[in-house]
Amino acid sequence: MRAAVLTRFGAPLAVHEVPDPRAGGGEVVVEVLATLVAPYAEEVFSGRRNYPLELPVIPGPGGVGRVVHAGRDATRLRAGDLVWCDSTVRSRDDALTPDITLLGWSSRGEGGARLARHLHDGAFAARMRVPTENVHPLPARAEDDPARWAALTVYVIAYGGLKAGGLEAGETLLVSGATGNLGSAAVAVALAMGAGRVIAPGRNRAALDLLTGRFGPRVRPVVLSGDEDTDRKAMSEAAEGPVDMVIDLLPPAAPTSAVRAAAMTVREFGRVVLMGGVGMLDGAALALPYPWLMRNSVTVRGQWMYPREANLGLIRLIASGALDLAPERVRPFPLDAVNEAVTYAAAHGGPFTRTVLTP
Ligand SMILES: NC(=O)c1ccc[n+]([C@@H]2O[C@H](COP(=O)([O-])OP(=O)(O)OC[C@H]3O[C@@H](n4cnc5c(N)ncnc54)[C@H](OP(=O)(O)O)[C@@H]3O)[C@@H](O)[C@H]2O)c1
Repeated sequence: MRAAVLTRFGAPLAVHEVPDPRAGGGEVVVEVLATLVAPYAEEVFSGRRNYPLELPVIPGPGGVGRVVHAGRDATRLRAGDLVWCDSTVRSRDDALTPDITLLGWSSRGEGGARLARHLHDGAFAARMRVPTENVHPLPARAEDDPARWAALTVYVIAYGGLKAGGLEAGETLLVSGATGNLGSAAVAVALAMGAGRVIAPGRNRAALDLLTGRFGPRVRPVVLSGDEDTDRKAMSEAAEGPVDMVIDLLPPAAPTSAVRAAAMTVREFGRVVLMGGVGMLDGAALALPYPWLMRNSVTVRGQWMYPREANLGLIRLIASGALDLAPERVRPFPLDAVNEAVTYAAAHGGPFTRTVLTP
């Protein structure tokens, strides 16, 4: 089969023939129809993100595909099924704290690296091998436009964070990084889940206008100044009442003061979910005042990716029409144009803008 291979950090991906993947027990081989190219893919492939990828690797976290062969332990999946392949692979030999690797993308710790040596490659290829539990059937209408459904990669991360924070219908949510790729997805998913009000801070007026234009008055934009106290006050005022939950989706380039300004808008007994990349490139540690946390009984939790059921929950949200993929601006690229796709994605990372490979 043909695949895009990263052989050296900083080198372009090379598209060439590689051996077809074979499914062992507990695995499925899928023909890849569409896979998302993240806006920060170039930072990963250049090595600037320091992701622990062992080279050579076929990158690409998850995608939409068609089952070619399901292992003998699969009781429902059949060859020909249209499916969503989740890239979040967990080791099966520790129920409490499984090791995690993101197929063809990243991993955590030595255990995650060991797992990544077995399930090594991602979706930038004609076919990929995926653990059976990572394969989820899609509704028949996804067949009409698999590239659009590749946006699940982004939406399911945001959905995982909102579930982790226990977002309830009618609540007020603040999305720190609302104008970003993941942040704007969190705004859309939160509204689909019934959030009453979503506070959307950002510095980019056009991106904020895009959010209010699409979602109307349930989204409250706040133009950030960069001054922590001013911004916290502005975000709190925009809520016109208590902020029940904050989700942070800022990238490594953002300062911890921006995270703190948003986090500290949360009400007594409120929840803060940290999902962004702040501090991952040796930035300053996030400091939150002990007395504020304690006196306000605030819960702060981190969340990396999402549990397996989140895939089903998100597919249901889309299938029911609660989350609409129609406004997505999708730019497809063939596998041979993978390097153009990576460059394009880096320059087009705004809300609801997707770069997709269609191998
Ligand atoms: N936890 C997980 O499972 C998980 C999974 C995938 C990715 N991530 C992390 O999530 C991060 C966000 O990804 P993304 O693709 O959404 O990034 P992105 O599109 O680059 O997000 C940019 C957002 O950050 C804001 N921002 C950037 N620099 C800022 C600054 N100095 N001050 C205030 N705001 C700033 C931008 O606001 P403006 O509009 O004002 O520029 C925009 O809202 C990634 O970097 C990654 O590390 C986490």
